Amino acid sequence: MKKILTGIKPTGVHLGNWIGAIKPSLELMEKHKDSQGLFFLADYHALNSCFDPVHLKATVKEVAATWLALGLDTKKHIFYRQSDIPEITELSVILAPFTPKGLLNRAHAYKAFQDRNKADGKIDLDEGVNMGLYTYPLLMSADILAFNADLVPVGEDNAQHLEITRDIAGKFNRNYKAELFNLPELVVRKGAMLPGIDGRKMSASYNNHIPVFLPEKRLRKMIMKITTDSTPPGEPKDKDSNSLFSFYSHFANEELVKSMEKKYSEGISWGEVKQEIFEVLNEILKDKREIYEHYLASDEELNQIFKEGSQKAREVSVPIIEEIKKTIF
Ligand code: ADP
Ligand code: TRP
Repeated sequence: MKKILTGIKPTGVHLGNWIGAIKPSLELMEKHKDSQGLFFLADYHALNSCFDPVHLKATVKEVAATWLALGLDTKKHIFYRQSDIPEITELSVILAPFTPKGLLNRAHAYKAFQDRNKADGKIDLDEGVNMGLYTYPLLMSADILAFNADLVPVGEDNAQHLEITRDIAGKFNRNYKAELFNLPELVVRKGAMLPGIDGRKMSASYNNHIPVFLPEKRLRKMIMKITTDSTPPGEPKDKDSNSLFSFYSHFANEELVKSMEKKYSEGISWGEVKQEIFEVLNEILKDKREIYEHYLASDEELNQIFKEGSQKAREVSVPIIEEIKKTIF
């Protein structure tokens, strides 16, 4: 039985997370009917950048309600909070000595932070970097290896983290001359990064994101904000001149995408393209909004889901860590 695992940082949940992580995870589960889904809220990862418990509690609820409304079935899949699984943090300590510092120096979240400091003219490029951010790929490796996951569906931006995980797992296995850890496989759709409203990759940290569940009017308003150029209505449009076409094709079916291609050549206006994006998205989301609102308002139900989820998750992680500790000590 294959174990399919992915996590999302509860720093908010946007359409990019849906396209890059939630949708492919649920599709994989459909494809491998006998697999075990392990889906979690990476709240320790969120702690690297959010120190406000009220905000964090609210975003944990939002991300959980989003997963559930988009089709995660807690009877079939295991759904949990990272912080409820002590084996993950324990494994992170065990793996630290098998993690070359150079690997973390090259990790892209840390490098991007340093680049920003450089661009801002800071002398100390590590200014503002905490050890949570720096060791992020190490904790992510523990998230995956504590369950010996086989497949990890993530957006392309996480490919490097999976490489790091495989490196650490391989080093550990070689040292103890045993296949203690699986080398997890990355599942990623090439070119599947969803652009944000400014055309860069959609990300909560760029503040260019569109949350998955917004009231209809606000969703439309945000879509209307996606940047375009000034090609006037009536003039043929280039699919690649901005992110609208790519955005549309992430949500529309093949037939609609073909017909949109034709409309581009016929000079559809950017406003009309945006309206069609809104309609396609709203059609998918309109019945799910109610489920989302339901979970958002049900603290007790969510707590019960997390309680059961962590129990089931630990049935998997406890024996793995026990085996690891027996081997190393
Ligand atoms: P953010 O970049 O907003 O902080 P996360 O880092 O929490 O988002 O990402 C959670 C998951 O969603 C990861 O698997 C990541 O690869 C995926 N993801 C994030 N942004 C995008 C995007 N714009 N397009 C596709 N997948 C994305
Ligand atoms: N790094 C992921 C992100 O970008 C979240 C994450 C944390 C994750 N641990 C994971 C994804 C383990 C897959 C597997 O938010």
